[in-house]
Amino acid sequence: MKKLLFLFDTDLYPSVFDTVVGYDGGADRVTGYANVTPDNVGALVDGTIFTRGGKEKQKTAIFIGGGDMAKGEALLKAVKKKFFGPFRVSVMLDPNGSNTTAAAGVALLAKAKPLKGKKAVVLAGTGPVGMRAATFLAEEGADVTLTSRSQLRAENAARAIESRFGVKVKGIVGADDASRASDVKDANIVLAAGAIGVHLLPESAWQNNPSNPQSSNYNAPISYTGY
Ligand SMILES: NC(=O)c1ccc[n+]([C@@H]2O[C@H](COP(=O)([O-])OP(=O)(O)OC[C@H]3O[C@@H](n4cnc5c(N)ncnc54)[C@H](OP(=O)(O)O)[C@@H]3O)[C@@H](O)[C@H]2O)c1
Repeated sequence: MKKLLFLFDTDLYPSVFDTVVGYDGGADRVTGYANVTPDNVGALVDGTIFTRGGKEKQKTAIFIGGGDMAKGEALLKAVKKKFFGPFRVSVMLDPNGSNTTAAAGVALLAKAKPLKGKKAVVLAGTGPVGMRAATFLAEEGADVTLTSRSQLRAENAARAIESRFGVKVKGIVGADDASRASDVKDANIVLAAGAIGVHLLPESAWQNNPSNPQSSNYNAPISYTGY
């Protein structure tokens, strides 16, 4: 029996990245759908739950991707709503590799120093990776702030995190290098989660930071930039 992975992507195209990873993860066939929404996902889910029976269902799975955490979470909810009794398959949510990437980043930070009680700033934390990293840091007991170029997006991301995971994160504006440098002034941990290629903090913000290891040898800011 073939292992089938159905990629439901909220973006314009099914992610090539997720497709490759799906094959490398052992799927025999990865089928991607784009522009999937809670309104059009029903028939796709039906195809996964009403075909194979019993244990054979373990070889059908759904992967929800895309670049928008809120859309991904809404899609996950819609997919799960279609399940009943034994008519269900495995479903994984990982918009932009957010859970896996953020988990790896926060695990790296936790390995370096205890996170409880530390002040953590997630720069450009409104994307999928930043939102998940902020959540994991808060769950580990850090005092977490996320930044955005827009106060509204920062607050919306913080609210979404609290409503899904019950942890408090503060959303503040960090529109340019100067304001982001000020945002991280007394931070112990800085996690840069901006879009690919975006430079969020000038080196001088580290060099002149009283919390950084050169000046105090304690509370070293640790940065993680993804790639
Ligand atoms: N190593 C891996 O396997 C892996 C996997 C996934 C992701 N990543 C990396 O992790 C990082 C975050 O990924 P993501 O998908 O969460 O990112 P994203 O959604 O593409 O972007 C995150 C945030 O960056 C901000 N941003 C965009 N353009 C900006 C600009 N010109 N100046 C300042 N801020 C800007 C936006 O926040 P506002 O609009 O709210 O300011 C956006 O919400 C990326 O660098 C990505 O390449 C690595």
